[in-house]
Amino acid sequence: MAHWRGGLDEAAVQEADMLKVGIVGLGGISRSHLQAIATLDGVEVAAVADLLAEPRTRIMREYGVAKGYASHTELLADDEIDAVAITLGHQLHHRLTVDACRAGKHVMVEKPMALDLRQCDEMVAAAEESGVKLMVGLTQHFGGPAMKAKEILDAGEIGPLVTAVSYMCKNWNYAGRRPQYRSRFHGGGMWMTNGVHVVDRLTWVMASQAVSVSAAIGTRAHYQAADDTSTVFIRYKNGAAGIAIAVAYADGAPLHDCVMYGTRGSLRFSGDSLQIGKDDEWTDVPFPVPPAGMTEQWRAFVEAIRLDIEPPAHGQWARHVMEILFAAEESALTGREVALSAGPAWETQSAGAPVSTRHGWI
Ligand SMILES: NC(=O)c1ccc[n+]([C@@H]2O[C@H](COP(=O)([O-])OP(=O)(O)OC[C@H]3O[C@@H](n4cnc5c(N)ncnc54)[C@H](O)[C@@H]3O)[C@@H](O)[C@H]2O)c1
Repeated sequence: MAHWRGGLDEAAVQEADMLKVGIVGLGGISRSHLQAIATLDGVEVAAVADLLAEPRTRIMREYGVAKGYASHTELLADDEIDAVAITLGHQLHHRLTVDACRAGKHVMVEKPMALDLRQCDEMVAAAEESGVKLMVGLTQHFGGPAMKAKEILDAGEIGPLVTAVSYMCKNWNYAGRRPQYRSRFHGGGMWMTNGVHVVDRLTWVMASQAVSVSAAIGTRAHYQAADDTSTVFIRYKNGAAGIAIAVAYADGAPLHDCVMYGTRGSLRFSGDSLQIGKDDEWTDVPFPVPPAGMTEQWRAFVEAIRLDIEPPAHGQWARHVMEILFAAEESALTGREVALSAGPAWETQSAGAPVSTRHGWI
C-alpha cells in the first residue's frame, strides 16, 4: 500500500492559485476554522453563510470576509468557492456534505460525521462521484503530543501494541449546553459528541480495523434524552483490544489521556504531555509544539487537495469510526457484543491513492 510521507512543498503552495474556502454555520467552532485558515499560506476564507444575520455580519467584520450568505445553497452556488467547511449541528452534516460535494466543492465537515451509516455511505459516495476530497474534523490527530506519539509508534519503538485505553472525561456543563447536544435524536450525547474523538484516537493508535464492540452506555448524572457515560471494549483485526471511555461528568475532574502498552514499552499522552515507559519508569518525551491542532488539520486538508491525495480522517476512515460508535450503542441496548460488518476496509484506499501522513500512518 502506497503512503506518501512528505510535507507539502511550501514553494508549490505559493505558486498555486489561492484556495477559496466557504464556511457554513458560524457558531463557536467556526472561529477555530477561521483562525486556523488565517495562519496558512495559499488558502483564505472567501465567504461565510449563516441563517442568522448577527453572527454573519460580525464574523465578516472581524475576519475581513468579503461575502456573506443567508443560506448554504447560495454559498454552494458561488463558483469562486473551491472548498467548504461545514460547521453546524450534527443532524445537518449529511445533507450539507452531499449538497456541497455535488456542487463540486471539497468538504471539511465537523465531527461526528453523521447520524447513521447510510448517511455516512452517501457522503463518501457523493465525494467519490464528484471527484472532491472529504475530510472529517477529527482533531485528535493533530495535537503535538499525539503526532509525536504516533511517530514513536510507527517507528516501532515500543513494538506492536498489545492494548490501549483512550479517555475523554469532561464537565458536561449541562446548564450551558445547547438543546441539540442533550438530545440523541439530534445526534447529541457525550458518546456522539466526544466519544467520537475517543474512538478515533484509539483506532488511530491501534492502526487496525475494529471487528467487534461491546459497551455499557447510559445517562447517569444528568436529566437529558442522551447519554453521558460510556465504557466500550473494542476488538481489532490485529487481535488486540482497546477500551474507550467517555464521561460527561456533573462533578469531577477532566482526563484526556491515551495510554498504550506495546511488546517493548509503553506510551501515554494527553493534550499537553507525552511520556514513554521503559525499564519500569515513565520519562517525558519532548514534542514539537505546532500551531493549534486546527491549523494542522487545515494544513493537511489543503495539502490533500493540492496533491490530489487522500486527507487524513477521510470519509472512509470517519465512516469506520461511526460504525464503531453505532455498534457500541447497539451493544449497550442488547447487552451483547456486536460484530461489525465487513465494510470497506479503510486500510486500503479505495482509490489506491496515497494518504497524507504528515501526522503518522493511518
Ligand atoms: N472538532 C471539535 O473538537 C469540535 C468542537 C466543537 C464543536 N464541534 C462540532 O462543530 C459543529 C458545530 O458546532 P457549534 O457548537 O459551533 O454549532 P452552533 O450550534 O453553535 O452553530 C451552528 C450555526 O449554524 C447556523 N446554521 C444552522 N443551519 C444553517 C444552514 N442551513 N445554513 C447556514 N447556517 C446554518 C446557526 O444559525 C448557527 O449559527 C458540531 O457538529 C460540533 O460537534 C467540533
